[in-house]
Amino acid sequence: MVLGEIERDIYQVGVIDWDRRLFDELIPLPDGTSYNAYLIKGSNKVALVDTADPTKEEELITNLEKVGVDKINYVIANHAEQDHSGAIPRVLETYPEAKVVTNKKCRNMLLDLLRLPEERFIEVGDGETLSLGNKTLRFIVAPWVHWPETMFTYLEEDRILFTCDFLGCHLATSSLFVEDETEVYQAAKRYYAEIMMPFKTFIRKHLSKIDELNPRIIAPSHGPVYRDPGFILEAYREWVSDTVSNVVVIPYVSMHGSTEKMVNHLIEALIGKGITVKPFNLTKTDIGTLAMSLVDAATVVFASPTVLVGPHPAVLYVAHLVNALKPKLRFLSVVSSYGWGGKTVEQIIGAVSSLKVETLSPVVVRGHPKKGDLEKLDNLADTILEKHKELGIA
Ligand code: FEO
Repeated sequence: MVLGEIERDIYQVGVIDWDRRLFDELIPLPDGTSYNAYLIKGSNKVALVDTADPTKEEELITNLEKVGVDKINYVIANHAEQDHSGAIPRVLETYPEAKVVTNKKCRNMLLDLLRLPEERFIEVGDGETLSLGNKTLRFIVAPWVHWPETMFTYLEEDRILFTCDFLGCHLATSSLFVEDETEVYQAAKRYYAEIMMPFKTFIRKHLSKIDELNPRIIAPSHGPVYRDPGFILEAYREWVSDTVSNVVVIPYVSMHGSTEKMVNHLIEALIGKGITVKPFNLTKTDIGTLAMSLVDAATVVFASPTVLVGPHPAVLYVAHLVNALKPKLRFLSVVSSYGWGGKTVEQIIGAVSSLKVETLSPVVVRGHPKKGDLEKLDNLADTILEKHKELGIA
């Protein structure tokens, strides 16, 4: 199915993956995804911007046939990850005259990942252009969104920016363009949280470059096309800003109810102080929703029982994820119960060593929490409120 023509002679020929529910064997995809590819027919040459996941290569080729392509001169590779590059070998086989156009880093990665012949590549640098006749492509090297080789392609005459992963979202939809900004905002925030959040510094620079270009349309390679890109650019500016919110995220596991009692007490104390609380029972939660909650939260409190002298493995797993996602958290604490001893607090704090956070006194309880233990949780809630007030968010 071809989703349609963005502008005259510019087609979205990519593939919708309605059923995919997991990406990288890690990231949940509640709404499926799409692998967008864009065919640009110039007066002299034809270019295809990105391809598709290799599982969908036949559908991509069928879509190219449907829009009446008898030749492709250039396959632009904005990103080497296989959900966009995996169908390149099949495209090169079908269109023997086609060359892969990309930057040096991406070329080298594609050589490693896809084992393509070196002579099928044309290497381009930042700012270089490629003429299709009446249309000109400009390449903008934009590293670390989210691999080191990523770049954008700008179609100058139509002012369309092809950003591949950047600004996209995992959303399978029959709409070529964004129709429901609220729906896309949520999907894009999830995508940002899971994939882009560790690269805030790079993203700020890329947003400035995009502002200078002032594109009319932004066409990512996941999710619908932005005909009015203002809203997604504004959302990204907010997400990568230094501002945090009066929010405490509590990832937790409880085995026999002690940790749960502490979590529930802390939740009530925080709510009583006007603080927004987002608890996640890690035996049930969707990690994408948890990641979204971390985009602007000021504080995280990990809560775990002690298992074999350390944290419950599900809590340690999430601590590792939080460490890798590098949210802009300011404060961290740990709530834990134990039977006969352990290093739960030390191991959780050790697992988030990349975070630049202030650690607030953990609350560690032997067995089921007693009155004095609950008072310590009240004190933790008081401290969190005080710290949020110092930031001016409470
Ligand atoms: Fe959509 Fe980084 O691949």
